[in-house]
Amino acid sequence: MPNFEWDDSLNLGDPLLDRQHKTLIALLNRASEACQASDKDTEIMHCLTGMYLYAKEHFFDEEGLMDRLGYPDRDAHKKQHKFFVDKTHAFTDGQLEGSLNAPDLLAFLTTWLREHITVEDAKILRFANTQDAPKR
Ligand SMILES: [Fe+2]
Ligand SMILES: [Fe+2]
Repeated sequence: MPNFEWDDSLNLGDPLLDRQHKTLIALLNRASEACQASDKDTEIMHCLTGMYLYAKEHFFDEEGLMDRLGYPDRDAHKKQHKFFVDKTHAFTDGQLEGSLNAPDLLAFLTTWLREHITVEDAKILRFANTQDAPKR
């Protein structure tokens, strides 16, 4: 699985969210490397736990922004965040039980993060820049 490189399509123009998205992608790349490491069980667990905790922190901040903006699709967006957290947790359980499928994990993280940031998160920032939205 190739590294997930940051590119301009992921840049939403919000310093906090962009920094957090970069960190999530760095964690994904660490997980990808861990899947190829010799001592991979410990490292994968470490990466998965880090991803789970950091994603929760990022979603907390992003959901706070949506609430402050009165973003109309925030309930659906929050459900997507919950799906990611639950799925990451399920991969953690799989790793503990010895049944983790590393290619499935990496494909899920890569696809979900890219699509969610460029499509769903981008919509929040577009809304924030409309005249209807309150100042942040
Ligand atoms: Fe989001
Ligand atoms: Fe996000």
